[in-house]
Amino acid sequence: MGTGSSQDYQKIKLRKLGAYFGAEVNGVDLTKKLTSKEVIEITQALAEYEFLVFKNQNISSEDQIRFAEIFGKLSVHPFSPNSEKIPELIIFENDENNPPFGTDIWHSDETFRDSPPMATCLRAIDVPKVGGDTLFSSMSAAYDGLSERMKSYISGLEAIHDFKPFKKLFDNDEAGMKDLHRFELMWPPVTHPVVRSHPVTGRKVVFVNPQFTVQIKGMNEFESRSLLTDLFDLAKIPEYQYRLHWENNTMVLWDNRSVQHYAVHDYWPQRRHLERVTIEGDKPFGSDVVASEESLLGGKSPRPAGVKPGHGNHAPKREFLREIERSK
Ligand SMILES: [Fe+2]
Repeated sequence: MGTGSSQDYQKIKLRKLGAYFGAEVNGVDLTKKLTSKEVIEITQALAEYEFLVFKNQNISSEDQIRFAEIFGKLSVHPFSPNSEKIPELIIFENDENNPPFGTDIWHSDETFRDSPPMATCLRAIDVPKVGGDTLFSSMSAAYDGLSERMKSYISGLEAIHDFKPFKKLFDNDEAGMKDLHRFELMWPPVTHPVVRSHPVTGRKVVFVNPQFTVQIKGMNEFESRSLLTDLFDLAKIPEYQYRLHWENNTMVLWDNRSVQHYAVHDYWPQRRHLERVTIEGDKPFGSDVVASEESLLGGKSPRPAGVKPGHGNHAPKREFLREIERSK
């Protein structure tokens, strides 16, 4: 961390926040269009510091959108509470009648997408004096902290992600199940490398999270479960974390490729109102050769060379296959 020196930043002022990541940005006025030099420096600082905090920015939703659009196209979240007029704008407006949902878990945003967002921009409009903090965890620092053995073990693995937490939002009746099925077809599970290479810095990042990651692809269920539990726990290590206390008019831009975050729900039933926009990203890639299917296979009994364990080629035919044939 911190490879850039202060000479690299002439237009913006940076104050380091965490030991490994995070910086407060001063010297910019987000009510105005930024100059190209300011944009270059903020873009560089985002990749280098992984999240940036802008304080005392009394700006409108339009100002926030204009700022975020500097970094790329904004995306529309299919399951979040979005503004009716501007679907790219997510409105988190929670109070005693509207408890927060699903954000009190470590995650990177929207990794159920084939190309998850590169960054998220969140702005506090009305936040409680105490409670409602957001924790960030550097998953590049987490990777660096692993043993060489563990780094080589997880390199080349892939994990399956899906939109599982949002499935609770569908009604548990026939119509709800029908709607859910439609969205499952629109948002099928996707595969991402377990160790992602950051496209700007080249740093390696542990890219699995308990909100959306469901399995290590091709691995025995019990091996997958124990490995994922260990990797999920990395975000909980205090050395890799920074805890942000929000004040009204604080805005954060985080690099969704390298950090995870956790919204603490301890403020409820007090009111907490924030607005978020999300910037489209690229398809994640790893720097390693993908682990072969053969190398991931286990088996409880010895098997002759060349015979794979599995469930194929059973006779007689399974009933659901007959059913499929009959319906053709
Ligand atoms: Fe989030």
